[in-house]
Amino acid sequence: PPKILFDCDTGIDDAMMLLYLAAEVRAGNAELAGVGTVHGNIDARTGALNTLRVLELAKIDDVPVAVGADRPMAQDVHYALDWHGGNGLADLDLAEPQGAPTGEPAPAQLVRLARENPGELTVVATGPLTNLGAALLLDAELPKLVREVVVMGGAFDHPGNVTTHAEANVWHDPEAADLVFAAGWPVVLVPLDATHPTAVGADWLARLAGHDSPVARFASQIMEWYADAYTPTLKRRGAVVHDALAAVLALEPELGEYVERPVRVELRGELTRGTTVWDARSLPASDDRRPVRVAVGSDVAAFQDRLLSAVLAL
Ligand code: BDR
Ligand code: CA
Repeated sequence: PPKILFDCDTGIDDAMMLLYLAAEVRAGNAELAGVGTVHGNIDARTGALNTLRVLELAKIDDVPVAVGADRPMAQDVHYALDWHGGNGLADLDLAEPQGAPTGEPAPAQLVRLARENPGELTVVATGPLTNLGAALLLDAELPKLVREVVVMGGAFDHPGNVTTHAEANVWHDPEAADLVFAAGWPVVLVPLDATHPTAVGADWLARLAGHDSPVARFASQIMEWYADAYTPTLKRRGAVVHDALAAVLALEPELGEYVERPVRVELRGELTRGTTVWDARSLPASDDRRPVRVAVGSDVAAFQDRLLSAVLAL
């Protein structure tokens, strides 16, 4: 099974992604080599504690969780508490985790695991890309050692979700994102264009709420809170579980539709800093960057089913 390293800012949809992956690990369909956390939805340390809480709830207690960068490379830190709650998990009153972060910085963990498993590691990143950017600066050979990098981030034809054009994970650290898109390793990018059409609705939430297990109750509580936050944007009851789509496409790429295009991040624009820009022109190639595989659609029913089945299986 694929060896996954997660890098996240746990966060409600990151938590749902962790539950999905935990079910796949238990089913023998994936191996979780480690998790790194980064500033984003909340601070990196709270993100690590939330990650441990979610993994422990899913009865996974043997995965190293490393705290990473607590601020972006070249700007101030911002959190997304309105979307995820003051503690990142819907303001639920959660017990302290049993386990603790390892003490190794997340970028160093990424480099170490890539060196220990050359050509085998799939990195799934669902927060700002500061840890990945820092790891690229630590080890210039990293792009050759990693099998694939799947990133939830960016917006192309879809509007942004922080500014008119910028998506949160890229907007939180544009310099780091640009390093990741320029590094030459195989990147799959899952932008808002792909995630928004997968929004779960009232029926899905009701099916989740109808199941009585500790994991399902937790998932239902955080998802109802998230739906309260999302409903005005969607104009119907529902929520976009962005990060879970990246994890599902990492394990089942055939559920996505893709285009291959060089991607750059706008680093200077007054109105557009943090925007992802792809080159959609046809030949001749106008960019020497390795094209990124950008997801532009997915099998929505299959995705929603994978996510619900995973939570119910735990
Ligand atoms: C991304 O931003 C975060 O708030 C979510 O967890 C997701 O990773 C969506 O733009
Ligand atoms: Ca996230």
